Amino acid sequence: MQHSSMNAAALQGSWGKRLLATCVCSLATCGVVSAADAPQRPPAVVDSYIPVAPSDDSLYQALGGHEGLVKIAADFHHRLEADPQLGPYFRDIDAKQYQERLVIQFCEVSGGPCKQAKYDMRKIHSGMDINKATFNATVEVLQQTLDAQGIAYRTQNRLLAQLAPMHRDIINVP
Ligand code: HEM
Repeated sequence: MQHSSMNAAALQGSWGKRLLATCVCSLATCGVVSAADAPQRPPAVVDSYIPVAPSDDSLYQALGGHEGLVKIAADFHHRLEADPQLGPYFRDIDAKQYQERLVIQFCEVSGGPCKQAKYDMRKIHSGMDINKATFNATVEVLQQTLDAQGIAYRTQNRLLAQLAPMHRDIINVP
């Protein structure tokens, strides 16, 4: 339990650094877009924080690569569905799509060979009434999943650190 709350706290920690990194990246990108390119570009669909991909795929490998992530996503989803507090959020969703998208997101944030899908966490979770306690409960279920899948504690923390800044986009009620 101490283990869980430590990670939950860590998850809410280092978002600032990463938000800063995102801002810097966005500014850099702005600088290289010419006016002629602008009309052809699709409208921006992302207003949420996007983690910076690690410089290598060691985290992705430590999570078991694609096969490992498929197992983690399925187990995580089943545990969320079975949880009395969290289950109602996950009823009536497209289970296959949810698990596939989690795999892609975890692949991206862990340095795996995935296309940047840039999920807009703020938009996706808007209207779900997610408070801090609900968010932390979800993180605890993720930790239980990672434990059950035999993922080392250090690897768990590396993944959680990547997801950390997202709490700002996902928690949307006091
Ligand atoms: C670090 C925390 C979280 C991460 C990384 C995360 C990530 C994701 C991703 C990648 C998706 C799929 C995106 C898509 O369908 O396009 C998703 C969907 C969803 N998330 Fe989260 N999520 C987090 C926290 C939460 C919390 C706290 C809840 C509520 C208890 C929640 C409820 C949902 C639900 C219900 C969907 C399905 C939406 C739908 O298909 O209509 N998530 N999340």
